[in-house]
Amino acid sequence: MNDDTILEFQNVSKVFPGVKALSDVSFRIQRGTIHGLCGENGAGKSTLMKILSGVYPHGTYDGRIIYNGQELKLHGGAIRQAAEQGIAIVYQELTLIPNMTVGENVFLGREPVERGAINWDRLYSDTQLILKRYGLDLHPQDVVKDLGVGKMQMTEIAKALSEDAKVLILDEPTSALSEIEINKLMDILRTLKSLGMTCIYITHKMSEFFEITDTITVLRDGKVVTTQPTKDITPEKLVSYMVGREMKERFPKSNRRPGEVILEVKDLHAVRGEREVLKGVSFDLRRGEILGIAGLMGSGRTELVMTLFGEFARITRGSVLVEGREVRITDSHSAMEHGISLVPEDRKRHGLVLGQSILNNISLPNLDRFAGFMRINRNAEVKESLRMMKELAIKAPNLYVPAESLSGGNQQKVVIAKWLMSKPKILIMDDPTRGVDVGAKYEIYKLMNDLAENGIAIIMISSELEEVLGMSDRVLVMWQGKSNGLLPIQEATQESIMHRAAGLM
Ligand SMILES: Nc1ncnc2c1ncn2[C@@H]1O[C@H](COP(=O)(O)OP(=O)(O)OP(=O)(O)O)[C@@H](O)[C@H]1O
Ligand SMILES: [Mg+2]
Repeated sequence: MNDDTILEFQNVSKVFPGVKALSDVSFRIQRGTIHGLCGENGAGKSTLMKILSGVYPHGTYDGRIIYNGQELKLHGGAIRQAAEQGIAIVYQELTLIPNMTVGENVFLGREPVERGAINWDRLYSDTQLILKRYGLDLHPQDVVKDLGVGKMQMTEIAKALSEDAKVLILDEPTSALSEIEINKLMDILRTLKSLGMTCIYITHKMSEFFEITDTITVLRDGKVVTTQPTKDITPEKLVSYMVGREMKERFPKSNRRPGEVILEVKDLHAVRGEREVLKGVSFDLRRGEILGIAGLMGSGRTELVMTLFGEFARITRGSVLVEGREVRITDSHSAMEHGISLVPEDRKRHGLVLGQSILNNISLPNLDRFAGFMRINRNAEVKESLRMMKELAIKAPNLYVPAESLSGGNQQKVVIAKWLMSKPKILIMDDPTRGVDVGAKYEIYKLMNDLAENGIAIIMISSELEEVLGMSDRVLVMWQGKSNGLLPIQEATQESIMHRAAGLM
């Protein structure tokens, strides 16, 4: 073994019922480097990291992991063991307890105790030390639920690092972060690296691999495709390693021809509790059009679409017209009656019932369509769901496995399938490709084009400006709860959008 190898996977394999998640995975990770782990949804990235962190203990997989020259054998319920050995993980989904403070979360389950009572002073001063050491801009006494996602992420990192970690695993840490927060995270990672820490980094944002990693391992269908220094790989090559073929373009061509106006929003104001969240939004949407909504975090993008869907905020002023007629949308039910569907941003909370099968998740809101006389037409339901599963390339052994057994990106596809089946006139998609791999993104784009070509009007929020520019016919820019420009795509550039999003125009 090479002297500065800290971790080596030797023929690691893992089987779930009906799925070979990993097969003969072998590669090495050098001490003090940032090692990227790249691959499509369901390629096995999270599974490998769960093995490394003891979620799947020794004996539940084949092969060996050599850590600091010795075989790593973590036993059942061993997540703490991994931490004690210096292996820390920040999972794909946040695991914090919202009602507790940063400090309480960081020391959860191992609070400093003195004479039978928790020593709070010590807990908070120790937290402060950790935050300072790693340059994390947080207050130990802040309550987690009041923090933005970016700071929650930092709390997760602080928690992971609090036990003198040698290896830090980050599984899609940036999927919910804004540009500024991502930059901060990159700084934190550079600090950790300079302190000699080894990081394993998973993301679906290709540019991040090139910004931060030293080496990349690509997984496809549970197998290692390649491990190479990042400087030897181009973005195009990385994508082709991932998907197993060349991908010439990121955005599929389309023959969309936007038609007449189907939705008109005039000077919309809305409040949630005491707070006015929309302060004057006006735009229109055409049949067969894809309207992108751009804006910074907190600009009111999600608030706008949730309100149009009858949730979140109460309309106090302005009007909404569907097909020329003013409508009153009071809840999601009335929204759907007017032909509006929403693919939500937070799939865990609004999109999926995790314990239920793929089939039930897809057909749940669509039962009306399958209800024949007296009973549901299961056959039609299964057939349609299977078609969706195929069309979206949802990776799963069959329709009956629970949604929670799917990889993160495949869960997202199930949510999209569910709303597509409701055949809306207006489809709102809030960050539809978050956590989705490049190949599947392309499939989703193709599907959006198909829908639009068939006359459905689509509103798409996206944090990735490239996606907005690549997919939209027009771009609505939000700023501080107001619409600040509705640009035809020919006039939409990185600069013109950013200027408006920052309120400089
Ligand atoms: N608990 C489980 N039970 C059954 N199958 C599982 C379970 N966990 C993962 N799988 C399957 O194993 C394969 C690998 O999943 P994994 O979560 O490792 O993918 P991933 O590379 O992290 O994908 P993503 O980028 O979407 O997060 C997938 O086919 C997934 O459906
Ligand atoms: Mg994953």
